[in-house]
Amino acid sequence: MERISHALVTGGAGFIGSHLVDELVAGGCRVTVLDNLSTGHRHNIDHLGDRIDFVEGDIRDEGLLNKVVKGCEVVFHQAAVVSVSQSVQDPSHACEINDLGTVRVLDASRRNGVRRVVMASSSAVYGDDPRMPKTEDMAPMPLSPYAVQKLTGEFYASVFGGLYGLETVCLRYFNVFGPRQDPSSPYSGVISIFLKKASAGEAPTIYGDGGQSRDFIYVKDVVRANVLAATEAPAAGQVLNVGTGTSIRIRDLWELIGELSNVKIDPVFGPPRAGDIRESISDIGRIRQSLGFKPRVVLRQGLIDTLAWYRAPS
Ligand code: NAD
Ligand code: UD1
Repeated sequence: MERISHALVTGGAGFIGSHLVDELVAGGCRVTVLDNLSTGHRHNIDHLGDRIDFVEGDIRDEGLLNKVVKGCEVVFHQAAVVSVSQSVQDPSHACEINDLGTVRVLDASRRNGVRRVVMASSSAVYGDDPRMPKTEDMAPMPLSPYAVQKLTGEFYASVFGGLYGLETVCLRYFNVFGPRQDPSSPYSGVISIFLKKASAGEAPTIYGDGGQSRDFIYVKDVVRANVLAATEAPAAGQVLNVGTGTSIRIRDLWELIGELSNVKIDPVFGPPRAGDIRESISDIGRIRQSLGFKPRVVLRQGLIDTLAWYRAPS
């Protein structure tokens, strides 16, 4: 990895953020983590000891942000209210963190001479445009407050580039999975919930008919995309899909997890979730061309590794 001298990772105690921190530290980067531990955990980064600076705090705290961002070359902005359905339940709270928090991160970055901000955006911005696969030039059609907030973040990033010369890259992650994804809340990612249910021999709930599809990408691939986005010159100013270009229906995902875990349990079907998108599959031509990025881990292997981790966390 091309050397990044010092990085701030907001949300660095979370699922994706903590894997990113691991990779940055391994590459010799000095890392500061800012996290309020609302959904993240100290145990995700405890193994790094004093090789990182951990600051417990909120991205809405301007004074704190100005302090922690000082001297950073790159900011990886991962902190957010992550759940689509949580944003439907409480849009104001999600807006405060996902919109106001993001503006504060961008503002502190430009005031303190940060070279580049890499932002965690989402494929949720595409909504239900029936055209597949999703390409970055499609008009966004957000269906949830979360999707609106991620799209607003992208617009702010672009405006901060134009007004203040701050380099920004927005990565539209598709559905990310892997070790450390916390299955403990009903708002957690579907793979973490399904793996926990399968391990416990319990039936999962599938919302709707299970015919909705998602493009699942392994967390380590998402980390590589982040590092490329921070270090490759052509990334500046871009919005890029981070997916695999393949997808699976939710009911088939449960079947596959059942097969890998050696359980055969019929799911329970519940009402569809408000704000849920139906189909999701990425076109990754743009990120392949501009950053040379290609995912390396296929769904089946990623599930095998994640299942092993849930059984014996390391
Ligand atoms: P996560 O919940 O594990 O990580 C989010 C982290 O942000 C947590 O550690 C949490 O404590 C922290 N946080 C939340 N609010 C904060 C605040 N106000 N101040 C400081 N820290 C705060 O979730 P994740 O899956 O690792 O998501 C990381 C990013 O990726 C998010 O921006 C999310 O929207 C985006 N994303 C995730 C997925 C996915 O499938 N997991 C897909 C697309 C985009
Ligand atoms: C996820 C991410 C979101 C990200 C988006 C990108 C989480 C919690 N959400 O949203 O941050 O921006 O991908 O595409 O990581 N489902 C069930 N049963 C369950 C849980 C979920 O049937 O117990 C279904 C949902 O209704 C949905 C699908 O599985 O259709 C995926 O749900 P979820 O993992 O919450 O992800 P997204 O809403 O796609």
